[in-house]
Amino acid sequence: MALNLDSVGKKIGPVSKDYTWKDAILYALGVGAGFSELEYTYEKDLKVIPTFSIASIFDFLSHIGINANVNLAGILHGEQDLIFHNPIPPDGKLITEGKITHMYDKGKGKGALVIGESETCHSSGKKLFTSILTLFARLDGGFGGEHAPKETFEYPARKPDFEIEASPSSDQPLLYRLTGDLFALHADPEFAKLAGFEKPIMHGLCTYGFACRALMQCLIPGQPEKVRRFKCRFSRPLYPGDPIKTQIWKIDDKTALWKTANAKTGEEVITNGVFEFGDLPKDEIRFDGKVAVVTGAGGGLGRTYALELAKRGAKMVVNDFGGSRDGSGGGGKGPADKVVDEIKAMGGSAVANYDSVSTPEGGQSIIQTALDNFGTIDILINNAGILRDKSFLKMEPENWNTVLDVHLTGAYNVTKPAFTVMREKGYGRIVMTTSAAGLYGNFGQTNYSSAKMGLVGLMNAAKLEGKKYNIKINTVAPIAASRLTEDIMPPELFEKMKPEFVSPMVLYLCSEKCKVNGYVYNAGMGFFNRAAVVTGPGAVIGDGKTIPSVEQVADAYGKIASMSAGKEYFELNEQVGDLINAFSAPAKTEAAAAAPKASGSVADIFKAMPGAFNAGAAKGVDVVFQYNISGSGGGDWFCVIKDGTCAVESGKHEKPTCTLKMADADFISMISGALPAMQAYTSGKLKIEGDVMKSQLIGKLFKL
Ligand code: NAI
Repeated sequence: MALNLDSVGKKIGPVSKDYTWKDAILYALGVGAGFSELEYTYEKDLKVIPTFSIASIFDFLSHIGINANVNLAGILHGEQDLIFHNPIPPDGKLITEGKITHMYDKGKGKGALVIGESETCHSSGKKLFTSILTLFARLDGGFGGEHAPKETFEYPARKPDFEIEASPSSDQPLLYRLTGDLFALHADPEFAKLAGFEKPIMHGLCTYGFACRALMQCLIPGQPEKVRRFKCRFSRPLYPGDPIKTQIWKIDDKTALWKTANAKTGEEVITNGVFEFGDLPKDEIRFDGKVAVVTGAGGGLGRTYALELAKRGAKMVVNDFGGSRDGSGGGGKGPADKVVDEIKAMGGSAVANYDSVSTPEGGQSIIQTALDNFGTIDILINNAGILRDKSFLKMEPENWNTVLDVHLTGAYNVTKPAFTVMREKGYGRIVMTTSAAGLYGNFGQTNYSSAKMGLVGLMNAAKLEGKKYNIKINTVAPIAASRLTEDIMPPELFEKMKPEFVSPMVLYLCSEKCKVNGYVYNAGMGFFNRAAVVTGPGAVIGDGKTIPSVEQVADAYGKIASMSAGKEYFELNEQVGDLINAFSAPAKTEAAAAAPKASGSVADIFKAMPGAFNAGAAKGVDVVFQYNISGSGGGDWFCVIKDGTCAVESGKHEKPTCTLKMADADFISMISGALPAMQAYTSGKLKIEGDVMKSQLIGKLFKL
């Protein structure tokens, strides 16, 4: 029997489960609630204990074990994280879908970890909760897989703020198992002995339910709808009848850390507990299960991004090489460590990295830190930055190069290894940091402005390469109070420009919700807008054969410089297409040239196309035009032009020179002359893929 390593990444579910108020009450009784908590145990105004959720998707959890092919005799619940998006209604249907995300090897005889992640929705359509489960498969170690990333967890040094004792009955598992987990280990003395225990043990999730009640009682009495997250590690088994004690440290008004111990022996049975609470924000954007790297996150803007991402569930790599504002010094671990401590103190997960972004080795090592500690990378924010301002004539090569090395080359160094992982997994969010100094110019910052505008260029090209792998790359031009701006901004403004005002834009661009790619945004003080390179409609001088004179340019300058009806391009090809189209009389371009006055259907037009072929103009031409016409009258046709001949066939050619895509009605109106080809192209009605330049031959090759 061996773990099924192929199960990683494969979809499990949907698995459905109907439940009624009786199931919710049975669960409450199973985790020790009684007359003192009638809100959970009596159907009048019934509320559901949030941890009911995990018991009610037990069928789904068992699919994780089955798909992973774990040895059931050695299976234990290792860790459980529940993130709540909406309160659990007292009845309905739960629909759960998910997958096994990782399998880690602890070594032969030491076991394996199987991680499963799922989302559960209610039959009303509301997303209720996300579960991240770790199964400890004690008998499945030694399969040669990678080790689990190391995670550290620290409780405050002070005494707990609350301690709640409880006494699960010696028969507790017999009641709890009726909520769904019928595993024999919790009821059958023979089975328990075979598994190495002196008698049946408590379900870890039952003790978890007791702990959830204790935390709610201390922090949000009677308000289960305010539980946002409940996370922990199951460290030791507990025998039924042993008393328990849950210790709670309130960290702030949203977070508490907790653990539960056997009150008789003092042994900790549940550790690394995180409890998040508060009002459930509508459609909260979360980063649970995502791994994020922020460069230069030891202070200023980077720190706020890292803290906010961690608060919303991301596992963080906090990079900062700890130098001074001009990039000198460095090597100090303090800034990164401090932010890591802040994240851990609020129950988040973070690790520090102290490399400089300015070398390829540094970039590689920053991303490797994410892979070693958390197994992957989903989000990268290129934020590290320095300043070396000097007026242009005083700008020495050293100041020029050092600034470019950190901002521009630094982003290249870190993005490249991150992009490799993101491309392989088919997901990634990258944010570049530009500046108004680069977008619009600033006195004394030629080095910085060049580097910052270079980052926009890096984004522009990389966005095209990441597009089909669901990697979105966008850029932010922040404005905020930090050590970079403290001597530039007037004190009143400095006070108002908190870096926290920039984070919402950056986090949106890092989220799954972000569907944009290749955009630039200004962000500061709560004001956000998009910036773009816009191109004017321009002027055609001459016929494209005779070189225009300087005087002609001077005469047409007003038209050349006009930005009225300016336009944005997503890539170079679009702009080149417009340039070439500018010289074609509308009816002579692209497919319009194929107009052999065939007024009927799209198919008629292609049938008539060889008759309109101008063999005299086809000397030495070797091209394939693929037409992809959508709509009910459409279809695929291709036209092969070689050795002065023209053949038109229906279907798809395997290697077209360029592909012209259009809706059937637009195609017919373009051929009839009603829609000029250039207008069709610039309005997006005609799309040309592949060699745009060659598409221009169509005008010459077909006679009207
Ligand atoms: P900051 O100085 O507080 O933060 C930058 C961080 O990057 C520092 O902690 C620094 O130690 C770190 N760093 C510098 N060089 C590094 C390297 N080679 N490797 C790793 N870490 C390095 O400054 P702030 O304002 O938070 O800047 C963040 C980014 O935002 C920078 O890229 C900056 O150019 C950009 N920006 C900031 C504006 C603002 O108004 N604060 C305006 C426009 C852009």
